[in-house]
Amino acid sequence: DARKVKPQTVAPFRPVPVTGADALTLPAGYRYQVLAPWGEKFTNDGREIGFNHDYVGYFPIDMLQGGQSSTDALLTINHEYVNALFVGGNTKERTPAQVRAEMEAVGVSVVRVRKEGGAWKVVPDARNRRIDALTDIELTGPVRGTAPVKGATMVKGSVGNCSGGQTPWGTLLTCEENVDGYTKAWAGSGYEAMHQGWVTEIDPFDPAWTPKKRTGMGRFRHENVAITVAADGRVVGYMGDDMQDACVYKFVSRGRYNPADRAANLKLLEDGDLYVANFGNGSWVLLDYDRNKKLQEAKGADGKALFASQADVLADARASALAVGGTPVDRPEDIEIHPRTGEVYVALTNNSKHGNYFGQIIKFREAKDDWTATTFLWEVFAVGGPQSGFASPDNLVFDPYGNLWMVTDNSDLGSNPIKDFHGNNAMFFFATEGPNAGKAQRFAIGPVDAEMTGPVWSPDGKTLFLAIQHPGEDSESLDKLRSNFAAKPGTNVPRPTLVAIEGFPGWKA
Ligand code: FEO
Ligand code: CA
Ligand code: CA
Ligand code: CA
Repeated sequence: DARKVKPQTVAPFRPVPVTGADALTLPAGYRYQVLAPWGEKFTNDGREIGFNHDYVGYFPIDMLQGGQSSTDALLTINHEYVNALFVGGNTKERTPAQVRAEMEAVGVSVVRVRKEGGAWKVVPDARNRRIDALTDIELTGPVRGTAPVKGATMVKGSVGNCSGGQTPWGTLLTCEENVDGYTKAWAGSGYEAMHQGWVTEIDPFDPAWTPKKRTGMGRFRHENVAITVAADGRVVGYMGDDMQDACVYKFVSRGRYNPADRAANLKLLEDGDLYVANFGNGSWVLLDYDRNKKLQEAKGADGKALFASQADVLADARASALAVGGTPVDRPEDIEIHPRTGEVYVALTNNSKHGNYFGQIIKFREAKDDWTATTFLWEVFAVGGPQSGFASPDNLVFDPYGNLWMVTDNSDLGSNPIKDFHGNNAMFFFATEGPNAGKAQRFAIGPVDAEMTGPVWSPDGKTLFLAIQHPGEDSESLDKLRSNFAAKPGTNVPRPTLVAIEGFPGWKA
């Protein structure tokens, strides 16, 4: 039981100073290896690792037998989007071949990895596969077969795969975030915007299980989903809509988790209630057309009803949320649940509309510590800026002691004062209790233009898998590369990649 682990609030490293170097800078005593870079062939049929690695899921190879191997696993890697300069090479008009290359470079990779002789390597496995923009995916839940999705029950592909979550029954939830640009970029390819923007469940252990879009969790710019199981067995997922002045959501399943019935668990996310957070009065407001009159009465600027069914409500969850008093916040990125206290932490990355360039991390506690509660109390945990040393918090991950590890994403803010105190994007450690609670300590700094994403540990805490996303992204041309990070030997083109970081002491009781 994670709640019984004693806190250890001292960072296990000497913080590193700010730098703009084109390197992954780590504290003394830590080292990394490049693992599963973009373009590496890894499936039995010759598919390649996709581009712009984001969320990483760690599924111990023996998980379904109750094990938790720290040296052998299926990793899932989200590939959020492509940079046309590097994928296909054509930055102007896209040819059909380029569109095809882009569609095959996004989505998710499922990759078997094993640690042998102190080094991690990708190993052949029948379960190694790509889910991309062309994969058949089933729509489930209230929006399946309805007008907003043009009657579809099966759709093509998963795109905008940003962060995600893992379920206790061993599946990946990949979150479709920035899905809007593709209608134009992939014009003529059959791409359908309303088929994207959902949470998609994938079983890494069973390639024959058709991936499922969980429409009951709403359609918006899904950043991630933090999954937990409430005391009564219902599955709860916290989610953010990463857009300026958008909301935080909670999904509560109808059915209950049964550790002995995986087949039933694989249906749990089909059916449940979706709520939006009102931070004004600390309440969760139900987004259900039949049970919330406000949704029936909501009217647009033209005086017409906004929604006529639950499918309408879920397909435009953002408008539904605002219609019932959901609180617009400063771009909710990652959400994670504290393993000891059960508090829910939310990274609000920034909001240039409000002059909030540095962002903050907030936390809330559900009434009576019940994740299915409809009221909560919230407070600010840490505020970005020159004083605290970090800006634009994005992905979060806890260690079992309750320390929070956070990576930053300052990529969207253009010219602003951040670079002066922040350098390249970085990873920070925060104790959540004790005298240094909320104080940021810099663990790692990424290469030029890169964002570090998807941090996840092996269960023993000895390896940290981290994705290095979009190194050299702002390069004008292949002749003027801003980064050479993880370039293939003999070349200078930077590659998005995972790194496996070693040097951690591992978890100790
Ligand atoms: Fe893809 Fe909100 O980050
Ligand atoms: Ca993010
Ligand atoms: Ca996370
Ligand atoms: Ca971000």
